[in-house]
Amino acid sequence: MYSEKVMDHFMNPRNVGEIKEADGAGTAGNPVCGDMMTFQIKVEDDRLKNVKFKTFGCGAAIAVSSMVSEMALGKTLDEAMKITNKDVAAELDGLPSNKMHCSNLGADALHKAIEDYRSKTGSGGEDKSRDE
Ligand code: FES
Repeated sequence: MYSEKVMDHFMNPRNVGEIKEADGAGTAGNPVCGDMMTFQIKVEDDRLKNVKFKTFGCGAAIAVSSMVSEMALGKTLDEAMKITNKDVAAELDGLPSNKMHCSNLGADALHKAIEDYRSKTGSGGEDKSRDE
């Protein structure tokens, strides 16, 4: 039912944990199942130098978090903002249809962490609303 990649990232999740003095943090939750994930990021020269997550959720949600963290590491903030939930599910070689909702949390939590960083630093990235 799960792809080998999903099982691998579930059994050996990458980048689990916390970052001391993180530059940004974001949490996404699913009100239906109650699962939640939090991403923390460290940014250097507009790139994601470190990405860590904590997920209180199902196996698919853990695999999704792990994959998102790997996909995001080293990317520029703008590149990371373009990672979609669909991209993540595709990188995992798909998820069962009743587990697709689990993939919705990953990119959302990452994007919130980046938005948090940007709101703290005033660096708006591609956000045209800033008035500097
Ligand atoms: Fe809710 Fe997977 S069952 S995130």
